[in-house]
Amino acid sequence: MKKLIYFCLLGLLMTGPVFSQQKHLSNETPQQKTERMQWWTDARFGMFIHWGLYSEAARHEWVKNHERLTNQQYQKYFDNFDPDHFNPKKWAKEAKAAGMKYAVLTTKHHEGFCLFDSKYTDYKATNTPAHRDLVREFVNAFRAEGIKVGFYYSLIDWHHPDFTIDGYHPQRIDNGDSAAYAKINKGRDMDKYRKYLFNQVRELLTNYGKIDILWLDFSYPGKFGKGHKDWHAKDLLKMIRQLQPGIIVDNRLDLNDYSDGYDFETPEQVNANTLVKYRGKTWETCQTFSGSWGYYRDETSWKTNHQLLDLLISSVTNGGNLILNVGPTARGEFDYRAVSHLDSIAYWMHANDRAIYGCTFAPDSYQVPEGTKLSYNPKTKRLYVFLYKIPEDGKLRLPGYNGKISYAQLLNDDSELQYKTQGEDLMLDMPKVRPPYDIPVVELMLK
Ligand code: GLC
Repeated sequence: MKKLIYFCLLGLLMTGPVFSQQKHLSNETPQQKTERMQWWTDARFGMFIHWGLYSEAARHEWVKNHERLTNQQYQKYFDNFDPDHFNPKKWAKEAKAAGMKYAVLTTKHHEGFCLFDSKYTDYKATNTPAHRDLVREFVNAFRAEGIKVGFYYSLIDWHHPDFTIDGYHPQRIDNGDSAAYAKINKGRDMDKYRKYLFNQVRELLTNYGKIDILWLDFSYPGKFGKGHKDWHAKDLLKMIRQLQPGIIVDNRLDLNDYSDGYDFETPEQVNANTLVKYRGKTWETCQTFSGSWGYYRDETSWKTNHQLLDLLISSVTNGGNLILNVGPTARGEFDYRAVSHLDSIAYWMHANDRAIYGCTFAPDSYQVPEGTKLSYNPKTKRLYVFLYKIPEDGKLRLPGYNGKISYAQLLNDDSELQYKTQGEDLMLDMPKVRPPYDIPVVELMLK
């Protein structure tokens, strides 16, 4: 008996540290985190908006870096920034129609230009021909449509005089060594930049009411890179949570060693087929319509409507979110290609959104019927079958489903789908006339 107690104690001692090994910054429990993030995990679908001076160049939001432009060379975009068609109410209506429940706007991208009226810089929209705080108008318009509001803020700043030149900077040195970088960075003071960074984040989280999401971008630790030490990331995150206790923060602060150093992972531009590996984690895949985040006039490699729909479905059926990006033009409008894609998503979402909101991957006990993907709503106990292919013989085999469901219907019109048993399986009658949706959905009520 004594021996047993001894081993139990030893076991406890050994597992104890394993539990606490993962470092943490706060005392929030997993349950509390789940509750804080509930609206976001239920929402599943958001809109990213990349808009800034680079929209004028219209050849990638990294144009300043790609073409190694100096502040002076870039100045023409500041002088000519005049978004005469900017109407965020219209943006918000389009996002809402497409079924997007939250939106994240670039308040400042790597170029350093601020869409908001910051008191810590002159490099802001109010000093351009736009003469307005564009962030405030965005916030008001999206909130009015009931869409949650998020801010993207670039940790990187290629305009600020104290942000040290590194391997990603437009003024980087080819094959530069430490001495060369030390020389070129003389007079630049990261302490001062950090103050600026903290001040601006404080402004954003103080002056615009409740902010639901903060999307900080990004860290690239390494010899000529920047990471959590450069941002004083722990202190920054502490301040963020103090100012906005409910806020949801992405994982690009380089605090991955802390269980609560971030709220969600951000697989960027990944293939829909790879999303399965994120099951069980909290994540949001960010995706563009084409190859660039900022407006890119001559970019032609746009995803098809089908690919976009598949990305949304693949996110939900693997338990994650999709944030789909629009890069408005310099006049402040969604480009016609973006509008047409959003319209097509809106058409599909209107009829099929029940298979998206509040859904996740199906329990393992439900086999995925051939040519389909499966989502599941744990609250309503309904299963959704996305019909990528409608079987030619008009019957969909639900393998092993006999005895598991009480009713089946087509989701877009709640019309009954009759079925017969065949051993362990159910054979579901498909509609004779193909429903007018690229990927129709079957709704199964589980017993
Ligand atoms: C990247 C890029 C950037 C874009 C972001 C969105 O890290 O630097 O241009 O804003 O991803 O995920």
